[in-house]
Amino acid sequence: MNFSYRMKTQIEFGDGRSSTLTDDLSVRFKPGESFFLVTDPGVMQTGKIEPLLESLRKAHYHVTLYSDVLPNPRDEDCLRGAALMREQNASAVIAVGGGSAMDTAKTIALLSRSSGVPREYADGERHYDEVAPIICLPTTAGTGSEVTRSAVITEQATHRKMTLKHERLRPTLAILDPELTRSVPPSVTAATGVDALVHAIEGATCRQATPLSRAFGEQAMQLIVPTLKRAVACGDDMDARRTMLEGSLLAGLSFGSTDVAAVHCLAEALSSLYDTPHGVANAVFLSSVLDFNAETHPALHARLARVMNFASAIDSEQLAVAKLLEGIGAWIAELGIPKLRDLAGVRVEDFGRLADLAFQNGSTKSNVRPITREDYLTLLEKTYHET
Ligand SMILES: [Fe+2]
Repeated sequence: MNFSYRMKTQIEFGDGRSSTLTDDLSVRFKPGESFFLVTDPGVMQTGKIEPLLESLRKAHYHVTLYSDVLPNPRDEDCLRGAALMREQNASAVIAVGGGSAMDTAKTIALLSRSSGVPREYADGERHYDEVAPIICLPTTAGTGSEVTRSAVITEQATHRKMTLKHERLRPTLAILDPELTRSVPPSVTAATGVDALVHAIEGATCRQATPLSRAFGEQAMQLIVPTLKRAVACGDDMDARRTMLEGSLLAGLSFGSTDVAAVHCLAEALSSLYDTPHGVANAVFLSSVLDFNAETHPALHARLARVMNFASAIDSEQLAVAKLLEGIGAWIAELGIPKLRDLAGVRVEDFGRLADLAFQNGSTKSNVRPITREDYLTLLEKTYHET
């Protein structure tokens, strides 16, 4: 098969690696230049930002702190941040946080240098002319946004989740320091970890999958499945934290060159209506979508079962698929993630709207099995009523 792979991001991985951020910056930026640092109130509370600010100041950089990032970030906040960044004449955006902070930072980097609103980019009405350099320091092992070319932003007026996607949105530099993930609480560790697994599965199995996305995705699955429970049970288990961050990076490299698929389409629909955390929304739909896809692609899913060690090489294809569905279901349940019907605000009356939103998602066409609006509706009902 023909394929192409592009990755401009410099990746630096290591314990304590964030403490030498200014060495990396000094290669590209002169003393006296300004940075726009994007983070969220939760990260601020952990005390991770102060030492970074201190080291930046010591290296004679100016910093504007933008710490208003919310989960499921909105277009209005990105526009506000971009205006502020322009005012401060900042040379680059530094994101310290999870997917919300990184996706907000990417969108601010775009809107600070180019005109328009996020929807126009997501709908293909504008070109991605110029984007400020983006530097990412992830604080969760999940999103992979530090190496991807996309940002998911919610349009405040319509609640629609929009994906901005362009090579220019790929970060210049990603610094992955497992220490930054140490204080993430168990429920967030669990949800973001499942998100990473879904990236690996969808990146490796979607219609655009390539040998590279399969290699990265399958390696990510092998790291994440046996490790996530340890990271949830003991946040100070730095071996588990390190492995999870490696897994989420590899998963990002997998879907970052291909796409996500139906699990994300349903998850983004759910989050846009009820503000459900992204990882939780993915977790609730994973088993149902795997079941749906395995009906037409049993060999592919038997392979997933073996890669994730839910089945062995001697199991038949049919048995391996059954073990995959059972294994993934039990794995998610053990992480303590609630079921769809237990999530705040979820109403059966909204399922038609959710099916519409999922079907309109640009990644619907990437699902390995063609999927219709009616299929989404059936999956929603099946997931809601599952025991
Ligand atoms: Fe995701």
